Amino acid sequence: MIPFSPPRIDQKTIDSVTEALQSGWISTGPKTKLFEEQLAKYVGTDHIVCLNSATAGMQLILNWLGVKEGDEVIVPAYTYCATANVVFHRGATPILVDVNPNDFNISVEAIKKAITHKTKAIIAVDIAGFPADYAEIISLINSEECKAKFQPNNPIQEKLGRIMLIADAAHSIGAKYKEEFTGHQADMSSYSFHAVKNLTTAEGGAVCFNVADKFDHATIKQQFKVSSLHGQTKDAFSKVQLGAWRYDIIEAGFKCNMTDLQAAIGLVELERYEDTLQRRKQIFDAYTKGFESESWAITPTYENEDKITSYHLYMLKIKDVTESQRDEIINVISENQVAVNVHYIPIPMLTFYKNKGYKMEDYPNAYNHFKGEITLPVFYNLNDEQVQIVIQTVKNAITKVLG
Ligand SMILES: Cc1ncc(COP(=O)(O)O)c(C=O)c1O
Repeated sequence: MIPFSPPRIDQKTIDSVTEALQSGWISTGPKTKLFEEQLAKYVGTDHIVCLNSATAGMQLILNWLGVKEGDEVIVPAYTYCATANVVFHRGATPILVDVNPNDFNISVEAIKKAITHKTKAIIAVDIAGFPADYAEIISLINSEECKAKFQPNNPIQEKLGRIMLIADAAHSIGAKYKEEFTGHQADMSSYSFHAVKNLTTAEGGAVCFNVADKFDHATIKQQFKVSSLHGQTKDAFSKVQLGAWRYDIIEAGFKCNMTDLQAAIGLVELERYEDTLQRRKQIFDAYTKGFESESWAITPTYENEDKITSYHLYMLKIKDVTESQRDEIINVISENQVAVNVHYIPIPMLTFYKNKGYKMEDYPNAYNHFKGEITLPVFYNLNDEQVQIVIQTVKNAITKVLG
């Protein structure tokens, strides 16, 4: 069987985690601090805060911005539920908008139409690792028209002076937009290090800040650290030092800190991340070469003059098929021992969102992408022979189902 995306775990990873276990400190401590420093160095930024997920990162960002009931946050209809769920956690309303017809990213035209005086933030998603259209979104939120609509209702929103741009960068660590890594475009970006991601810590995530023109990143980092640990003024590592027991709670914070066991995995992953990306690129290129001459295939765009993907998901599309034909194709591929996936079931198709009144027919591009989409296996140890097996298995399944 060819699996979908097992993590790259080897003796180096095991040794690193073992060292953390044997150090006597397994929660947030020196390894998390080191991982934060190394990540910031890799991304080319000053401060990064590590957490237990990208979801937690987005929750802390919306918490920092003070998003609350009555506010609206614009989110693409084509994403994982986390991007929209975090808006509900604040009691606010996710305003779902359609994506581009030719790639899976949020449509700037659709954002423009959805902005109201209640809009506090936009969450753009770097789907599959391919960065969103940041220059166009930034120019929109800085336009006089948008700024005039913006109604701040706390000191942070006043200081920001416009709609906040948040990147759901769950897929895109290592991707580039206009020659800079993702993390440098939106006001704040949230990366995921979940088990299936390019760079994993089993579960994990990190927030990268990009608001230094108006705010102090070191202060924000400290605020996020406090918010990620119950609102406690002292982290657990400092609190266990001799005589350093006293602490205070300054807010009803969350509990989403990264542990040193996670960071121990992340440090190894990061050290060899360029190598990981190179292998993933080879697999992407081989898939495109294998499918591009097929009349039924729409291969994904993963590089253009502004953007280079992180090669996270290879999202192949089958032209002119129905959803049930696509499902049948997946059944045949699975019977032939290749694990594939679908990214994503658009948010309006999910029960919770359907019950809230979102309707799939309002997002035709999202549905069009979804009905013919199949995501192929990509992982570091997938060898060239297996890549060819995947290509042939997909082709055979298409012939069997579509004739
Ligand atoms: C687009 C997107 N956003 C957010 C998340 C959430 O990431 P995490 O599991 O780290 O919270 C995921 C996870 O798969 C995702 O695919």
